[in-house]
Amino acid sequence: MKPNTTNIRYYELTASEFNWKISEEKTVKAWGFNNSIPGPVLKANKGDMMVIKVKNDLREATVVHWHGIRLPSSMDGTDDVQRPIQPGEEFEYRFVVPDAGTFWYHSHQNETEQMERGMYGALIVEEDSNVITDEDRIFMIDDMKLTATNEFKEGNFFQRWFERHDGREGETLLVNGKENSLIKMHAGQMERWRFINASSAKYFRLHFEGKTFKIIGTDGGLLETAQEVNEVLIIPGERVEIIAGPFAEGEIFSIESLPYNRMTSIKPKRQKYATVKVGASKPSVAFIPENLRTIESLASHDAIVTRKVNFSVGPSWKHGINFLVNGHVHTGDKPVNVGELQVWEVSNTSLMDHPFHLHGFFFQVLEENGKPLDYKAWKDTYNLKPKSKIKIAWIPDNRPGRWMYHCHILEHHEAGMMAHFEVVDPMKGAMKHEHHHHACKN
Ligand code: C2O
Ligand code: CU
Repeated sequence: MKPNTTNIRYYELTASEFNWKISEEKTVKAWGFNNSIPGPVLKANKGDMMVIKVKNDLREATVVHWHGIRLPSSMDGTDDVQRPIQPGEEFEYRFVVPDAGTFWYHSHQNETEQMERGMYGALIVEEDSNVITDEDRIFMIDDMKLTATNEFKEGNFFQRWFERHDGREGETLLVNGKENSLIKMHAGQMERWRFINASSAKYFRLHFEGKTFKIIGTDGGLLETAQEVNEVLIIPGERVEIIAGPFAEGEIFSIESLPYNRMTSIKPKRQKYATVKVGASKPSVAFIPENLRTIESLASHDAIVTRKVNFSVGPSWKHGINFLVNGHVHTGDKPVNVGELQVWEVSNTSLMDHPFHLHGFFFQVLEENGKPLDYKAWKDTYNLKPKSKIKIAWIPDNRPGRWMYHCHILEHHEAGMMAHFEVVDPMKGAMKHEHHHHACKN
């Protein structure tokens, strides 16, 4: 057993309603953590224990999910594994963060409202790798749909129908809770920018007016090698880490999203989120190694499928349309055993995109529509294009309990596109005694 040298990081988050100034002209009645959108950045080093006390000062129940963290099921922050935190109550989350990367926390209760109003924040776990940059910044991407008087009020019956079908998108475009922000950086420097898409439904196609940048990481930390691109799609729930720069003094460009047609009634648009201004040059200490890290393959791309999961839509007598997993709304799936390799074929037979998200475990995408991917990555959120399928591999490590997967378009999740399942330890009876002595009880 490892000696008990775990560092403990204590944090307190209070959920409440407050006035949040998005810009000079716009102030909203936000819901969020510690009176800010996003909530505070929670930081830890790989292997630390986090102790986060969440107090609920809202007038309704909430629960906080730690998106991407491989934590014990009882700490996952869903109403499936805990009683939601009632108004006036508090709950203490305690878990070790085993992986470095860009993660985030968000409400997992009445999400279409609580997250839309601002209940999210970043959780960064630092690695001990040799990536050195001149600056490390977080960009939490969101959009709000506001009325002319800056309220969140639901629309009429038809607007609500479209919101359920399309997911809620709005015209108030936020980076870290602010509209039209100005980001200043130095010429000649290379910065690490961590993008987190916290929106309800926006497919954010990151673009710097054509300038190239390097992708170094995704959901579960670094890639094996950096990839040079001039755009990247970041779907709701997903994270992308990039190296921005070096740029020349005087350059000005916008952080924008190119149009993406995800096959809904919302017209794809090119939208500007923020402006970057490059100032006087400063020496750089940045060093991006050729090999960022090694990712072992869990399975070969032709591994035999152990389970099929299907996302689809179907007619609903009550709502017009239902969002389904394996033909059902808010359904359950068969249990999986600790230690048994999972090879899932996840298909989307609907005519629109859905971000597939698995709680608590990372997967590798082995194939998309029968073709192997040309890079390896640890993912917890991956886009399912219309009429397509992916093959993923993952291992239920020794964290038995209740878990789930769902579409990360919040309105689709709410409308039924989710399934619970259990990770079971087949040795449980025999293991009980062992467990008692050796488990690090979180
Ligand atoms: Cu980021 Cu179940 O969610
Ligand atoms: Cu969906």
